[in-house]
Amino acid sequence: MPWQCCPRQETSNFMDPELARLNALMRESTVAMNNLLHADMPWQYSPQQELSNSKDDELARLEALVREATHDMDSIRQQSTYWDTEILMQEVQKQWEESSPMCGAQSEPPNQEHVDDKECPSELQQQIATTSIGEPEQNNATTIPSEVEKSNASANFKEPDAENVTTTLMLKQESMNCSYPELPRQLHEYMLGHQDGACLGDDTSSMVIPSDNGVARKSLLMEMIKKSEEIDGCMLEDSKKDGPSLDLHRILANDCHSNWLELPRQRRLHPTMMEVEENEVEMASTTLICDTQPWKDLKAHVEDIKKTHLRDLMNDKERCESMMVEFDGMFLDYSRQCATLDTMAKLYKLAEAASLKQQINRMYSGEHINSTENRSVLHVALRAPRDAVINSDGKNVVPDVWNVLDKIRDFSEKVRSGSWVGATGKPLKDVIAIGIGGSFLGPLFVHTALQTDPEAVEFAKGRQLRFLANVDPIDVARSIAGLNPETALVVVVSKTFTTAETMLNARTIREWISSALGPSAVAKHMVAVSTNLTLVEKFGIDPNNAFAFWDWVGGRYSVCSAVGVLPLSLQYGFSIVEKFLKGASSIDDHFRSAPFEKNIPVLLGLLSVWNVSFLGYPARAILPYSQALEKFAPHIQQVSMESNGKGVSIDGVPLPYEAGEIDFGEPGTNGQHSFYQLIHQGRVIPCDFIGIVKSQQPVYLKGEVVSNHDELMSNFFAQPDALAYGKTAEQLLKENVSQHLIPHKTFSGNRPSLSLLLPSLGAYNIGQLLASYEHRVAVEGFVWGINSFDQWGVELGKSLATQVRKQLHASRTKSEPVEGFNFSTTKLLTRYLQASSDIPADPPTLLPRI
Ligand code: F6P
Repeated sequence: MPWQCCPRQETSNFMDPELARLNALMRESTVAMNNLLHADMPWQYSPQQELSNSKDDELARLEALVREATHDMDSIRQQSTYWDTEILMQEVQKQWEESSPMCGAQSEPPNQEHVDDKECPSELQQQIATTSIGEPEQNNATTIPSEVEKSNASANFKEPDAENVTTTLMLKQESMNCSYPELPRQLHEYMLGHQDGACLGDDTSSMVIPSDNGVARKSLLMEMIKKSEEIDGCMLEDSKKDGPSLDLHRILANDCHSNWLELPRQRRLHPTMMEVEENEVEMASTTLICDTQPWKDLKAHVEDIKKTHLRDLMNDKERCESMMVEFDGMFLDYSRQCATLDTMAKLYKLAEAASLKQQINRMYSGEHINSTENRSVLHVALRAPRDAVINSDGKNVVPDVWNVLDKIRDFSEKVRSGSWVGATGKPLKDVIAIGIGGSFLGPLFVHTALQTDPEAVEFAKGRQLRFLANVDPIDVARSIAGLNPETALVVVVSKTFTTAETMLNARTIREWISSALGPSAVAKHMVAVSTNLTLVEKFGIDPNNAFAFWDWVGGRYSVCSAVGVLPLSLQYGFSIVEKFLKGASSIDDHFRSAPFEKNIPVLLGLLSVWNVSFLGYPARAILPYSQALEKFAPHIQQVSMESNGKGVSIDGVPLPYEAGEIDFGEPGTNGQHSFYQLIHQGRVIPCDFIGIVKSQQPVYLKGEVVSNHDELMSNFFAQPDALAYGKTAEQLLKENVSQHLIPHKTFSGNRPSLSLLLPSLGAYNIGQLLASYEHRVAVEGFVWGINSFDQWGVELGKSLATQVRKQLHASRTKSEPVEGFNFSTTKLLTRYLQASSDIPADPPTLLPRI
């Protein structure tokens, strides 16, 4: 329910220019706030229908709303930063005074266009809008204050209202230490009864209690705790134990704000941060990497690199030799990067400044490095050997991992051997895995890669694995086309078990099964993978047929959990999947222990940072010369872009540099006949060329010059040189190319790439490749100083879809007009509804007829 602007209402309601201006300010700040929100219920503002109150009352009301919105905005953006409402309101007052003569001179009331066109421009409005959308502030006080700043601060600023601070609470399920989003949802509903604006992320278990809207904060929290105690095994705790957040118990003790320090530029630090000040190592986390000397050195070094050309760099044998690394059969050649040995030395210094080694260690030791969700990041534990010890919250998680793996081994063997049969007694040979995002892309990539591996093929004989991800009914049709429910096993994969697309698809396929075989067939034909076993059971799936994973596994890092292991084991048998896990584990060890100069994921990550942040190349093409890897780029798109597509540092400070890469790719040589034109002569896009020494499916034709795989690999070897060397006008002249074509046929060259050569493409190598890229993304995130393990950016769109869904329902069933949307969306929705008005209001169940 974002704030909506309704021109006619505003025009008629805000006859007075001052009110109109304040209203515009309100709109600006609210729109900006809606942009920031990643919650179901963004802050809402509606102009008064009628000016029933006096003008003064209305001004006071708007003042209060501006104050609240501004405060909430920054509370949401970063709990330790906020706009000082005193200053804000003084500024508002000042601007009214300054601008009212001009605005007041209007004899006609301002209409909407006047307001929109900012006829009475307000610096403050702009300031709010700019600040709110997260653009970097110059001199933003993101560093720990000096003593002088501290004393100035206490002299200049008032203690904030203890009631007026946003708190993030987190709910945990005690027994398994994993999150149960439906628990906060219950509380959320309960909260909504008390307070507008309670927020809940869709797939997290955290809940934000915004500023007090009239209900005493303490008593609300007490009620929340009471309510949480009523829900079995539910625990309420502060979400940010190690950050500048509020401590629940101190709130309850009513002393949580006594030591808050106000700083100039509205920076507020919690006392715990003051303690941190004395600890230099910890402090590094609040300093942006761009403020460090190694970053500045690299910036300066760009000028040196601009003077080089890969044509020359490639002549330096020593340089090339030292830009080649081998580990466990994987061979990386990064000599075609626009980098010298000096660049590499400077990048290692940057890694040091970013405490990369320590960050990697923190990840492996189970620290809650995903701080916005207060979680460890332990996908490495999913492929750790049985005897490994990896702790999360003081508990070794490896035995839990292996319990689930053993359960998968047993279950998949039963299904594959035919000892587990469907409702009509037939063996289940076709698997439909329903899931989206991380619950789909990774398993799809691995399945596609194994589908032609001779060893895996043997194990998959007579079996099918299909995926259903998109909520598009066409995808439903494709997933069941030609299948018989009697022989189908459905695996519903969802970490949260709340994802709208997955749940509707799961209900659809449940209908497909039960309409054919009766409702009791669901128990035999549907199993689940989730962290949310309560919702799995509620859905109607036997908890014994549910395969757990944990909140320390991010969705896009979950392919090595039951998310991937179950469907892949059903298709290929557990022994093949175990090889895949071993390959990933081998890279995990390498990543943790190899020195940076020999560490493949570290090198890949640092070179990405170099290309993005220093050379200014924001995109990366992933170009596997193997059709089996056709789903690798789509998977890495999520791993990389959902992880590193962030605009603020891990501490919530807006980044003054771009983070994240734009990933895309296609297998060679298909890509060559598609987008390589742009890569060769258009934009500079660093490329990852991935080649395989031995094809999964060799083909030789007698009389041909080379084998089919050699033909493919000729391109793998040629393309990087074409990009690096290009072709000059002189060369073209020598070839007698006509003058007028020379500009068109010239290739500037100097376009960076790297080449990764794998010995073959069995399950083990697929695991190696996966883990190398997962860790590469983490390296980039660690250096950029962002949280690569949350994904708040996906929330806003989800919540807006909820509003549309409600409208579609109301319009279809009660012929309600489209309301509450902007002009464009209203028009589109109305057209959509009118053009499909022949659909009955309450249609009978209809499944695809393909
Ligand atoms: O796209 C957002 C996201 O939350 C991903 O991070 C996740 O992989 C996907 O949705 C699916 O979520 P779930 O596994 O909870 O259904």
